[in-house]
Amino acid sequence: MSDYILVIDEGTTSTRAIAFDKSLNPQASAQAEIPLTFPKDGWVEQDPEQIWEKTLDVCKQVISASGGVEKFSGIGIANQRETTLLWDKETGKAFGPAIIWQDRRTAARCEVLRKEGKERDVQALSGLILDPYFSATKIGWLLENVPGAKEAADAGKAAFGTVDSFLLFRLTGGREHATDVTNASRTAMMDLSTLAWSEHLCKLFDVPWSTLPTIAPTGSEYGETDQALFGKSLPISSMVGDQQAALIGQACVQPGEAKITYGTGAFLVANTGLDIPSSKNRLLGTCAYQAQSRTHWGLEGSIFNAGTVVKWLRDELGLISDAAASEAMAAELPDNGGVYFVPAFTGLGAPHWAPDARGQITGLSRGTRAAHIVRAGLEAAAYQTYDLLQAFESDGCNVGILRVDGGMAENDWLLQFLSDITGLVVERPPYPEMTALGAAVIAAGELGWMSLDDWHEARAIAKVYEPKMAASEREQLIEGWETALDYAIGK
Ligand code: G3P
Repeated sequence: MSDYILVIDEGTTSTRAIAFDKSLNPQASAQAEIPLTFPKDGWVEQDPEQIWEKTLDVCKQVISASGGVEKFSGIGIANQRETTLLWDKETGKAFGPAIIWQDRRTAARCEVLRKEGKERDVQALSGLILDPYFSATKIGWLLENVPGAKEAADAGKAAFGTVDSFLLFRLTGGREHATDVTNASRTAMMDLSTLAWSEHLCKLFDVPWSTLPTIAPTGSEYGETDQALFGKSLPISSMVGDQQAALIGQACVQPGEAKITYGTGAFLVANTGLDIPSSKNRLLGTCAYQAQSRTHWGLEGSIFNAGTVVKWLRDELGLISDAAASEAMAAELPDNGGVYFVPAFTGLGAPHWAPDARGQITGLSRGTRAAHIVRAGLEAAAYQTYDLLQAFESDGCNVGILRVDGGMAENDWLLQFLSDITGLVVERPPYPEMTALGAAVIAAGELGWMSLDDWHEARAIAKVYEPKMAASEREQLIEGWETALDYAIGK
């Protein structure tokens, strides 16, 4: 009897597989880190073979821990978005590295296009802005710089894909080349209103049509896994960008509901229902999901560095032994001691979009201790969220309650500070893996196990945080952050 859905959650720093049962409770999981490399300032890469091999390995571990492949009905995939791969359609071999979403190598190309006045078209059609974050200019870089890539593309033999497409291609033994609407909406080449590739945008970015995957709904029949991989073919029933997956996991399937996920970066997404957002404040219009005959759009603000700060404090500075230690360190201080940390390691995303900004720690005094720097790193996540919420409000999208998830949402001190700085009620769900859960919800819909509305009804909340800070303190802290931010942006 088939009892489980196998979810692949391929994130920026690790890939994991989770077996969910019919009530969408996790029953087994496995995880593997995938190293990022930083060959030059602003460059961020991964090895495509590691993405594939480690993902396959965690899937096999979970299948074996769950009693074998016969127990599984289907697969759902959630993935880091925008990360760009180009591969040979015949051999499956990648041309060059996976260029990670955080990579800034195409900043100059974006600037040229901006000076040519192309940003208006990009925004009007794709809902995005001109920034190296998105896939389109990354494809151009691979075509121009990896030997053999351009020739293969000219001969119709090169395939572009985000990580979902790459995994699908490999899982189906090279038979399927597709992506879902949520991932396609992050490439800057999809027309957000028609949910089809835009000829105009593909020409603008010089991306050959023959490289593009087919766009399918989030819940769809994507194909069957190659029998040789797991001993039995499994249907792939959902593919979804990880932030939209978390939106669904958090049951934000109705207009007006919003979540923020603190993973490698942090991403605030509000469901806008049938309204296709057109931001006046440099936020992003995106597809929230297409499943069960329903299409919803979303408004998004993307912060590039959140969890990376904690990782950096641990691995590069050695100030904390593990992520959990940051909570006690922050809590032990009466205040931030005037220290602010703008974590622009790879520039700043929404609403500032400053690819050349770099990190700053300001306000150091002789009394500054390691705990102040750690606390400032955590506080930055809350200030950046506040900046996004201001932009959301100016766009007419008022977030009433903030549903949070991701690794940093385990930190009680941070969630209270977040509630204090944003002035909003913050809610944390009982299960932290909202991304994987979202991919499971969509796959469960395809398998007839559960509808989106059932999921909306079933939502549980583990903990609620309410604002407690005095208005004067809040204002003073935000003012301090804004000064530090101006410094980082070079204002
Ligand atoms: O847009 C980038 C995003 O999809 C990455 O997510 O979870 O790896 O921070 P995460």
